Amino acid sequence: MNTYDKNDIKTKQEIIKDLLKKKNAILLAHNYQREEVQDIADFQGDSLELSIKANKTDADIIVFCGVRFMAENAAIMNPDKIVILPNENAGCPMVGMITAKDIINFKNDYPGAPVVAYVNTSAECKAVSDICCTSANAVKVVNSLPGKRVLMVPDKNLGSYVQRFTDKEVTSWPGYCPPHKRTTPEDIKTLKEKYPGAVFVAHPESTPETIDVADHVSSTSGMYKFVRESNAKYFIIGTEQGIMYKMKKENPDKVFISSNKGLICPNMKRTHLEDVIASLSNMKNIIRISEDIRLRARKSIENMLAL
Ligand code: 13P
Ligand code: SF4
Repeated sequence: MNTYDKNDIKTKQEIIKDLLKKKNAILLAHNYQREEVQDIADFQGDSLELSIKANKTDADIIVFCGVRFMAENAAIMNPDKIVILPNENAGCPMVGMITAKDIINFKNDYPGAPVVAYVNTSAECKAVSDICCTSANAVKVVNSLPGKRVLMVPDKNLGSYVQRFTDKEVTSWPGYCPPHKRTTPEDIKTLKEKYPGAVFVAHPESTPETIDVADHVSSTSGMYKFVRESNAKYFIIGTEQGIMYKMKKENPDKVFISSNKGLICPNMKRTHLEDVIASLSNMKNIIRISEDIRLRARKSIENMLAL
């Protein structure tokens, strides 16, 4: 990056800070966001932390730098606030792998079984589910439910991860995260040979074969905590590469290696500083959800937060 770029980024960050202040807005960023976006976040976190934070803020406007379902969660919980998704094309492909109608049919196939919707779902899907979960609390959510069988949508990998920690029968929808799917056990074997003693940290969205070779599995924020507290020097990071920016800053003596070159989520990279400036100054890309859907989806999120 040349000096011009650095100054340009700084100028844009200053513009955003001024806008946020003037409009009583807060900027929330997911752990995968671009470095220059992470640097101006009022709060950065995983899906669960961001949902909690969005629920607690006094700001009038929430600028959500993440993907659409995350901004929708904030809008579902805060009808009196304006929620902006700076780049309207920032979606999550896993969200598109299931519809509300699919969930209704799924429920009909297993009468009486509660549906746990991963937060990576549309508001419409949450509206027909019983409770939400994130990667940080999925096991706790499933174990809190009555009955023998639980339906999990849409991530089959999260479902099979949860199955390891519950006596219930977890029946999952066959969705998945394309970037996380790219890391294979062979990648880890090769990297462990190259970096002896390296610790492999995986996300629950990874495939079961990859989870089998993980030394630690957690949500993105759980990974920050784990690497901070670990005595190891080398870490193979099995999640989106944006997470390594803060890891490197917080742990200058440790070395972080991505588990796979392709572990980049293009949607998490769509939000640029320019998008934040344009959307906030023109009040564009505001999330809108019909009141009927919002109220029903809210119940599922509230059931999760109550835990
Ligand atoms: P976390 O909730 O762990 O941050 O995960 C969000 C996500 O989309 C992972 O791909
Ligand atoms: Fe969706 Fe995967 Fe990107 Fe997360 S990393 S937003 S699950 S595509």
